[in-house]
Amino acid sequence: MNPVINTMLNHRSIRKFTDKVITEEELDMILSSGISASSSSFLQTTSIIRVTDPIMRKALVQFSGGQAYVETAAEFLVFCIDYQRHYQLSSQVKPEFTELTLIGAIDAGIMAQNTLLAAESLGLGGVYIGGLRNSPKEVDELLGLPQYCAVMFGMCLGHPDQSPQIKPRLPQKVIVHQNTYQPLSAQAIMEYDDETNHYYQSRGSNQKTGSWSDHISERLSKESRSFILSYLNSKGLATK
Ligand SMILES: Cc1cc2nc3c(=O)[nH]c(=O)nc-3n(C[C@H](O)[C@H](O)[C@H](O)COP(=O)(O)O)c2cc1C
Repeated sequence: MNPVINTMLNHRSIRKFTDKVITEEELDMILSSGISASSSSFLQTTSIIRVTDPIMRKALVQFSGGQAYVETAAEFLVFCIDYQRHYQLSSQVKPEFTELTLIGAIDAGIMAQNTLLAAESLGLGGVYIGGLRNSPKEVDELLGLPQYCAVMFGMCLGHPDQSPQIKPRLPQKVIVHQNTYQPLSAQAIMEYDDETNHYYQSRGSNQKTGSWSDHISERLSKESRSFILSYLNSKGLATK
């Protein structure tokens, strides 16, 4: 197995960090790796806000629903869809199409994953903070985001002060379909539910009972940030 694949297969989110800083040299390598990711139509629609101000970090903890590691991580990056700079290059640019918002969200995710992987390859760890979208308007105002620039998620990075178990994923046979869509295998899900149930009960912290299926019924049976469309629309995005 090569070191890149080894790093990928060892991924787990890190939410507890030591006080050690990430050096400017490391950060430069991490960000350059993120920025080197593929970009739809070479549009380069992502902006990253590096939040170093401790008072702003505290506010972001609150806006993300009390996630303390937003404050304690060595670095906190906010990934945004950004068509503002394209608009400044040409007022003919039409950022309002939903397709462009999809492109922006996809590109931000790809850039972010390259960023996290680069950090993990250096022995660092991190976690995405989608919780920022609990309060998108407040985050937007705090960061001074202009029109056509919208917050997608944050990312904590730092030196790990924990070594959580790897979370088991759905088996390839459920995720990968050959040629045409295959029916869901009840047997495969049952086995995965046993595996996740065991994982939840035996992991180092936040132990609980329940399976992945229980998690899905609970998580997806309620409204999902129903205010997001109006936030995007207020930024001039996804109105067409
Ligand atoms: C876009 C995105 C947003 C996420 N938001 C949060 C978050 O707000 N808080 C958090 O603790 N974890 C967050 N996560 C981490 C997931 O919970 C985590 O990746 C998932 O449970 C799998 O665990 P693992 O990364 O340790 O394998 C997010 C992950 C992604 C990809």
